[in-house]
Amino acid sequence: MKSNSLSFATRAIHSGYEPSEHEGALNPPVYMTSTFCFDNVEQGAARFAGEEPGHFYSRISNPTQALLETRLADLEEAEAGLVTASGMGAITATMWTLLSPGDRVIADKTLYGCTFAYLQHGLRKFGIDVVFVDFTDLSDVDNALSENAKVVYFESPANPNMRLIDIAAVAERVHAYDKEIKVIVDNTYCTPVLQRPLSLGADLVVHSATKYLGGHGDLIAGAVLGQKSLVDRIRIEGLKDMTGAVVAPLTAFLVLRGLKTLELRMKQHSLAAYEIAHRLEQHCAVESVYYPGLKSNEFYELASRQMSGYGGMIAFELKGGFDSAVKFMNRLDMIKRAVSLGDAETLCQHPASMTHATYSNEERSKHGISEGLVRISVGLESIEDIYTDLVQALQCS
Ligand SMILES: Cc1ncc(COP(=O)(O)O)c(C=O)c1O
Repeated sequence: MKSNSLSFATRAIHSGYEPSEHEGALNPPVYMTSTFCFDNVEQGAARFAGEEPGHFYSRISNPTQALLETRLADLEEAEAGLVTASGMGAITATMWTLLSPGDRVIADKTLYGCTFAYLQHGLRKFGIDVVFVDFTDLSDVDNALSENAKVVYFESPANPNMRLIDIAAVAERVHAYDKEIKVIVDNTYCTPVLQRPLSLGADLVVHSATKYLGGHGDLIAGAVLGQKSLVDRIRIEGLKDMTGAVVAPLTAFLVLRGLKTLELRMKQHSLAAYEIAHRLEQHCAVESVYYPGLKSNEFYELASRQMSGYGGMIAFELKGGFDSAVKFMNRLDMIKRAVSLGDAETLCQHPASMTHATYSNEERSKHGISEGLVRISVGLESIEDIYTDLVQALQCS
């Protein structure tokens, strides 16, 4: 099936798969195999040498994994894709491939807690020079650029405080300085439904497919998308030899199933989050709401230009800070107290003590993550039910 003229929703369901090539099966078979047999020694040698296409061992590739890679690459408008055992698997396989001791990584100051820990503590152990700057101020990015810079890394919106970075502006400045520096964007919060960083000049996109791409809170997976030559290197160096963070075939199948409803789900997540953010902003217990779809939000103009919807994630602070946040969360009923995001269930978590506990207190305050911040992943329940639960848990003084 030729997919390039088809719309996103259609490609999310059909791209890369032809039932007639698989006994007519509507859904792709799950190749539960670790290894693949060769007709003869020569064929095995040719596959290992990369001289003949074909699978040989599922830590490198597998047909179910390959279909998911094709489909995700199509949706992100990338030349190629690689799926991994987790979002952290995608990030680490990419970084290990691109970096050597003495190289510099320039990262935004707000990142998912484990990504921050990997850069701050993990990579530094191996002699990588990691600097964190405020990417909302482009002159900070300019000042950090140096001869040894190899990777520029950020999230937009950033987890957990919803700061937005101007992807096109950062990519343009970095590449004007040195086109060999790889600009990597974590697109987990938006998915390709809402934002396509590669079309804005980024070199690679990474995902925690655990979140919206899978969409049902029942798997852990990751992905990296971009230029084929780069993705091939990450597969052979970062995945095969350095992390071994390979996705299981059944997990790849579940992500493929999740993708079929991705556009529908993102539309509903965005609609519900917009409505809830708007109402929370007017609630007497709430100090501030961070949601890029609110006209009052400092990133509203950038969000409207860079994203095609504002997404399902909201962060907010309560009057009374930390104590009020804890009391509010403990009063929630239908809404679940849990980390992760992008599921059908509305999830609420406290970054300072949960996802961002990897930062020290000083680091959190320096990196703009307050102790009273609460994060909600707005789910697919009825908007009224979500809001009713929030309101019964909020208390005005
Ligand atoms: C923005 C972001 N990137 C990466 C990750 C890591 O993904 P995983 O948990 O699938 O390893 C997460 C996990 O919460 C995340 O929120």
